[in-house]
Amino acid sequence: MIFSHWLATLLGGSLAIHGALGAITLNVDDENSLKTAAKTVASDMIDFYNARDSKDIPGKFDGTWWEGGSMFMVLIQYWWLTGDSQFNDAIQEGMYWQKGDDDFFPSNYSQYLGNDDQVFWGLAAITAAELNFPEQSGQPSWVSLAQGVFNTQVPRWDTSSCHGGMRWQIWPYQSGYTTKNAISNGGLFQLAARLALYTKNTTYAEWAERIWDWSATTPLLKQKNWNIADSTTCDTQCTDHGDWQWTYNYGTYISGAGYMYNYTNGTASKWKAGIDGLIGTSSQFYPTQGYNGAAGNVLVEITCESVEKCDRNQITFKAYFSSWLAFLTTIVPGSSDSIMPKLKTSAQAAIKTCTAGSDGTLCGIKWYNQAADGTNGLEQQMAVLGVLNANLIPFKGGAPLTAETGGTSKSNPSAGTNSSNQAVPTLNNITTGDRAGAGILTVIFVTGWAVAVTWMIRGG
Ligand SMILES: *[C@@H]1O[C@H](CO)[C@@H](O)[C@H](O)[C@H]1NC(C)=O
Ligand SMILES: *[C@@H]1O[C@H](CO)[C@@H](O)[C@H](O)[C@H]1NC(C)=O
Ligand SMILES: *[C@@H]1O[C@H](CO)[C@@H](O)[C@H](O)[C@H]1NC(C)=O
Ligand SMILES: *[C@@H]1O[C@H](CO)[C@@H](O)[C@H](O)[C@H]1NC(C)=O
Ligand SMILES: *[C@@H]1O[C@H](CO)[C@@H](O)[C@H](O)[C@H]1NC(C)=O
Repeated sequence: MIFSHWLATLLGGSLAIHGALGAITLNVDDENSLKTAAKTVASDMIDFYNARDSKDIPGKFDGTWWEGGSMFMVLIQYWWLTGDSQFNDAIQEGMYWQKGDDDFFPSNYSQYLGNDDQVFWGLAAITAAELNFPEQSGQPSWVSLAQGVFNTQVPRWDTSSCHGGMRWQIWPYQSGYTTKNAISNGGLFQLAARLALYTKNTTYAEWAERIWDWSATTPLLKQKNWNIADSTTCDTQCTDHGDWQWTYNYGTYISGAGYMYNYTNGTASKWKAGIDGLIGTSSQFYPTQGYNGAAGNVLVEITCESVEKCDRNQITFKAYFSSWLAFLTTIVPGSSDSIMPKLKTSAQAAIKTCTAGSDGTLCGIKWYNQAADGTNGLEQQMAVLGVLNANLIPFKGGAPLTAETGGTSKSNPSAGTNSSNQAVPTLNNITTGDRAGAGILTVIFVTGWAVAVTWMIRGG
């Protein structure tokens, strides 16, 4: 995905109607109240999805591809937690449409995707497998689609610099190819850890551990102080650091460590140390000073919210952080007290931003304000749905399934290995439309990179 918050104009700038009509009532201690609120938030999200220009292409959003995967991931959680299956057809249709050669690397978009874009679809697929989300006959299984992503990403492990690591972007002509970033590495780490627990195939566990250990040799995972830098570059052998702090970077490493903790039967102390350490430093996302008196109880995307620079990607990150951490409480005994209380107060605050639009239910970005903030959009809905899902997890009970505990999705370790998309694409074959798109993205990135480098130099 392309981070352009330095250029960001707030999306969904349509005027919020403060206090109009509805507003959603929520009692976070009541399962039915949570379900009712989640249904409203999810329905409004799907209304945005159905209104997109590219609605003839299932799963494809206007101007972004990866968010389809992350939205389906959150909707699959929603279905499992509430039993509301009204979105299941749309989920299946979009997931299968975008499956590519069983690897979520469809040729329409593969020329300009990053590893992080692809891995989110893999995370949606493993979520579907773990929760026994319905499969269609004649289609690849959910777990095989997750394996297809793993199988296409692992050959991209790059030892030509930094002794390893996933690059951010996939092709040499993409700006960002010389960057290694936390979400691409943390995303594959989490996917591998989840495949390890689901299938019990040690290959996945070895890769998860390899990615974690490699990350720990770079600023992407500093075990000394449990800080996660957003990015580092090949040119410096991964010694420089882009230090923006993002919830989902922490969320993805914490979650993966949780799956590895459970996979290793709690015997390997490194995973518990990682979980505790990173939950500790995640407290920065619950700031105690400022933020309208949120007093350490409301989740904040601290790098962009108060300065009103969150781009559409960044608006969604709180969904993943919240739901991944809440799922972790089901596989890491004793972790609930350090996770759930703040997700509860965050949900209560988040829902108070949902007062915009003609029905008075569209949500904003800044949960800490506990009021509409003049923005609305699909991404705002996704973030709030994520934190409502998180709060439903303790009511639902149960944990992600594995092949041994009732997961019915069938493993296919060679999924995605017959892909025609492994070779660097020939740029001549890209249609004018795609090339223009890629060019624009590049310009945005290069502009941003100058700012980022300046920032890194100043930030040390
Ligand atoms: C690829 O693009 C074509 C033409 O717009 C479209 O019909 C098709 O649905 C797209 N496929 C995917 C996977 O998005
Ligand atoms: C965890 O325990 C189970 C049951 O005793 C055992 O079969 C499995 O091999 C153990 N897993 C690891 C990674 O040690
Ligand atoms: C792994 O998760 C399962 C499912 O919740 C749980 O029963 C089990 O105790 C966990 N294992 C460890 C070692 O915590
Ligand atoms: C485990 O995964 C690896 C890598 O995909 C594969 O080569 C191997 O066949 C798998 N083993 C089993 C028993 O499924
Ligand atoms: C791989 O793809 C080719 C071309 O689509 C097909 O002919 C072949 O049967 C596939 N092989 C396997 C093992 O799926």
